[in-house]
Amino acid sequence: MADAQWWRTAAIYQIYIRSFADGDGDGIGDIAGIRSRLGYLAQLGVDAIWITPWYASPNNDGGYDVRDYRAIDPTYGDLREAELLIGEAHQHGLRVILDIVPNHTSTDHPWFQAALVSPPGSPERARYHFVDGRGPGGELPPNDWRSTFGGSAWQRVTEADGEPGQWYLHLFDPTQADLNWSDPEVHREFLDILRFWFDRGVDGFRIDVATGLVKHPGYPDLGYREEDLLVLTNVPDHPHRDRDGVHAIYRDWRTLAGEYDPPRIFVAEAWVADSERLARYVAPGQLHTTFNFPFLQSAWDAGELSSVIESTLHAMSRVGAPPTWVLSNHDVERTVTRYGRADTRKQPGRSGHELGPVDIELGRRRARAAILLMLALPGVAYLYQGEELGLPDHMDIPVDRIQDPIWTRSGGRRRGRDGCRVPLPWTLDPKGAGFGSADPWLPQPHGWETHSVQSQLDDPTSMYHLVARALRIRRNLGAAPELEWVVRSDSVLHFRRGPALECIVNFGATEVPVPAGAVPLLRSDTIDATPDPLGPDTAAWLRPRG
Ligand code: NOJ
Repeated sequence: MADAQWWRTAAIYQIYIRSFADGDGDGIGDIAGIRSRLGYLAQLGVDAIWITPWYASPNNDGGYDVRDYRAIDPTYGDLREAELLIGEAHQHGLRVILDIVPNHTSTDHPWFQAALVSPPGSPERARYHFVDGRGPGGELPPNDWRSTFGGSAWQRVTEADGEPGQWYLHLFDPTQADLNWSDPEVHREFLDILRFWFDRGVDGFRIDVATGLVKHPGYPDLGYREEDLLVLTNVPDHPHRDRDGVHAIYRDWRTLAGEYDPPRIFVAEAWVADSERLARYVAPGQLHTTFNFPFLQSAWDAGELSSVIESTLHAMSRVGAPPTWVLSNHDVERTVTRYGRADTRKQPGRSGHELGPVDIELGRRRARAAILLMLALPGVAYLYQGEELGLPDHMDIPVDRIQDPIWTRSGGRRRGRDGCRVPLPWTLDPKGAGFGSADPWLPQPHGWETHSVQSQLDDPTSMYHLVARALRIRRNLGAAPELEWVVRSDSVLHFRRGPALECIVNFGATEVPVPAGAVPLLRSDTIDATPDPLGPDTAAWLRPRG
């Protein structure tokens, strides 16, 4: 654990706490569940875990609606258990990254509650975006901004005199009020929250909605309807995304992280389309890393993926930041499902049956090849829990069990993200699949236990063994040389990392021979290191000829 540069090459495993493992049998994942599975994660071979928000929260948006940033939600445990977990993870050689939510608080947060009972213009209201409405009686929202979950981004409040009053901004759910980062108290508070967790040994933070903190002070109309969840922004002077002012905040955060030994790290959730704009978040003196959503967004297509790889490598090397790679998270369809469709691009805000039929076997074959592609690339790789099991999305959650606020905000038009958040299958028990409770908070699909860790440990060709072997080889690569293309065509991506590794992915319909003389290490179909030609949607790792 001594290497202060660990974050430049790490494999980081995302834990969506509600669905990872349930230690107390209440149907909801928790800290006890994570603690009981640290051995599993260490054995899988990841270097760090990122835990989605575990703070006190009414949980209207999976914990991204925080009531108290210094307390653990009782559903998950308490502060003492959190501290134990951090220590135990370190003993297992795993770093711990938490999720900080600085764009908004829950409307249950004491600051927002104080703002509600304070008059317009008060310091309490200045911490949020309270604005007068348009129209003669202020009855219209201040502008045309939309919530990413659907509907207007403004909600009107009732003032102390019982009359309808100002409006507050919520770019997500109405129970998630956007903070006003032009208020110095907001800055101070978040530096203090970061310190609180850094002092407890946390190694870093993922920054939620990292591009969104600064809003145009005049709240101008956007001029068009922007209603998709988590889209890649590429609009100059957008009034609430990727504004220049956010960078000053991150310079202060970097300074704070650098005061610790070893220095703490950040990864930005930045849905920015242009890799040069993205690189600004990781320029010297700012954040360490940022997610690479153009990679996650790409179709299963050699041309599209290789141009994202190239532009990422170029943009990140210019600022000295490591590239990062991600295919899956708790907001998007799992690759097994997405890659099984005719259109394999991520569809903003849409999921499930509305996107057409899925060939799961095709999706699984591609997801296995994709993970070898991702893990062969230089830099940091993110794995989302269950990705190592090749889980598909649950596309048939009964509507009365849907939890994602997108469902209600869209008037039942969009099912949202629950399909990729189903509690993990650990064992062959047909009731609850060993998650910890027979009745998990989100229903598991029929036969979920067949994907379980237990069944995959027993199957030498399973996705689990593929990922574990790839992680082991990858770890030994260390800072292997940068990527050098051997073939970059419409149907084949083939690159070398110096003498350490060669990766070939066949995107085409015909077989591709494996280079003679190279030593086969791993392949996505059989796992076994055979020199046979690669079939469609298959990848292989080799050690180049000496
Ligand atoms: C991004 C998170 O990943 C997502 O789950 C959440 O709904 C929004 N930010 C709002 O916090």
